[in-house]
Amino acid sequence: MEWGMKNRLAKLIQSDGRAMFLPIDHGYFQGPTTKLEEPGKTIEPILPYVDAIMLTRGILRSCVDPNNTKPVILRVSGGTSMARKEELAHEGITTSVREAIRLNASAVSMSIFVGSEREHETLLNLSNLVNECEEYGIPTMAVTAVGTELGKRDARYLALACRIAAELGARVVKTYYCEEGFEKVVRGCPVPVVMAGGPKVETELEVFKFIHDGIQKGAIGVNLGRNIWQHSHPVAMAKAIRAIIHENATPKEAQALFDEVKSGKK
Ligand code: 5RP
Repeated sequence: MEWGMKNRLAKLIQSDGRAMFLPIDHGYFQGPTTKLEEPGKTIEPILPYVDAIMLTRGILRSCVDPNNTKPVILRVSGGTSMARKEELAHEGITTSVREAIRLNASAVSMSIFVGSEREHETLLNLSNLVNECEEYGIPTMAVTAVGTELGKRDARYLALACRIAAELGARVVKTYYCEEGFEKVVRGCPVPVVMAGGPKVETELEVFKFIHDGIQKGAIGVNLGRNIWQHSHPVAMAKAIRAIIHENATPKEAQALFDEVKSGKK
């Protein structure tokens, strides 16, 4: 691996081999998602606790201080909206690699929709993006997306999607956690796997438990948004999740830390 690629990956994946990415790219097809109406304000208190942010060029330019030193994972796919849910898989590449370089991105990311009518198109999009990004030493993170078909998130499907993403050259793969067989998803994927959070869940402990379990099963960390910034105590969530990822905290320890931060004791 060349120096530039290694250096960019080292900014994202920390020296302990783990990673905590904060995605705020949801608006690229959802519009002003709850709590992300003003992304700059939302992320300000959370930023110190994450390793990188994932977002589109528009939000980066207009809502993130360029003095921000957090590495950027630039979402470069899109072209769809919630107004046409049946077409969510019909994504194209929206942002050039030149622009990614100009914005000093540490990686680019795009969605693939395995099993959808647009499977072929999105997989070729990934292959072409990897071809171009490798020229410049920029890692590509593939997002194994399911659109509105959240029921697809079982180990068999996720293993298929993750392996294909890695085969086509993704340097990191983002997927969903599943309770049954997640170790098989990770084992079948020869590049690092990070887990998305999905829609906000009822209790913070549920989030801590799945992150902890996913890491025991081989994931290197998370690319997790809504369960942090849609929570009423986002900083406490970020600190607790960071403790699981980088300090091997158990879900119980993470909950105790969350409670302390929430009550102002820490
Ligand atoms: C959307 C994405 C999001 O970045 C990803 O789903 C992670 O966010 P969340 O934890 O809110 O699900 O890639 O396609």
